[in-house]
Amino acid sequence: MPEGSAMSHLPLLETAKDIATCFEPGAEIVLYHGDASELISTLPDKSVKLIITSPPYNLGKVYESRTSIKEYLETQAQTIAELYRILQPDGSVCWQVGNFVQDGEVYPLDIHYYPIFKSLGLFLRNRIIWHFGHGLHASKRFSGRYETILWFTKSKDYTFNLDAVRVPSKYPGKRHYKGPNKGKPSGNPKGKNPSDVWEGLVKEWEEGFWNIPNVKSNHPEKTIHPCQFPVELVERCVLALTCKGDWVFDPYAGAGSALIAAIKHNRRAMGSEKESVYVDIARERIVSYFNGTLRLRPMGKPVYQPTGREKVSQIPPEWEDAA
Ligand SMILES: C[S@@+](CC[C@H](N)C(=O)[O-])C[C@H]1O[C@@H](n2cnc3c(N)ncnc32)[C@H](O)[C@@H]1O
Repeated sequence: MPEGSAMSHLPLLETAKDIATCFEPGAEIVLYHGDASELISTLPDKSVKLIITSPPYNLGKVYESRTSIKEYLETQAQTIAELYRILQPDGSVCWQVGNFVQDGEVYPLDIHYYPIFKSLGLFLRNRIIWHFGHGLHASKRFSGRYETILWFTKSKDYTFNLDAVRVPSKYPGKRHYKGPNKGKPSGNPKGKNPSDVWEGLVKEWEEGFWNIPNVKSNHPEKTIHPCQFPVELVERCVLALTCKGDWVFDPYAGAGSALIAAIKHNRRAMGSEKESVYVDIARERIVSYFNGTLRLRPMGKPVYQPTGREKVSQIPPEWEDAA
């Protein structure tokens, strides 16, 4: 369905005054404080166009109690089955995960989630690599610098607005060199497909990648939440996989990044979050978005590239003989 054609009778989202605290059919923003399953049980069948989330990874973060990977996945499978019920037939799930680590052994969570989604009959469309340049330095394995997003659709007939997320081509002047179109431009004037590796925009122009920095302390969007989504990451999924007025739902909403991305593009936004401190942050961020005071990294802003002249780019004098 073309961008903007669904539910175009809906007024544009212009105010945060009506953030509903539980599901109401006429609501445009729902922020539920409580367990995701409680909210899901109140949602109508086939009502949500995009479920996009980063679930707890069972790493023992402040908001979760660590359990065995088996028990963790069994609980998640129950929630995913409930999510399947509320997903529209032409809808999508974007499940963003990294690794569970136990005794130094790495369990890539997407490998473990894949059979859960497949058993429900969902179709994998992309395993997107979200590459970021910063993170912890490992000492007994290579440092992890990517996580993945499993994009599944409920059916073979699904929304995919590629034109809404095209990026500039590296060589727009390229032409067909043979065949019936010989001499004509070979690319698309709207840009190229952004690919399934999401990296930096500076590199995007130069190398064909798009880097969305992960949210660390110097990022304009940083809150006290330990593992926030960059809003920009969700924006690409919202634009490509939904139309204006569609419901976008993050069952593990944290600081509300997915809701903000949805609201920014005139989609209806819904989230559940069990920790009141994060619910308050999410609500404040939504209100600040409407007030025009929310700090957001603009979509597509180039990733900072050190010039080599900064102090932190210089080799410490003590190391000069060590190389
Ligand atoms: C990985 S974080 C998601 C962060 C979010 N993407 C953001 O941008 O802030 C997972 C969140 O899920 C919440 N959570 C964990 N279990 C939950 C449950 N059963 N129901 C609702 N929220 C839950 C945690 O409190 C945490 O904020």
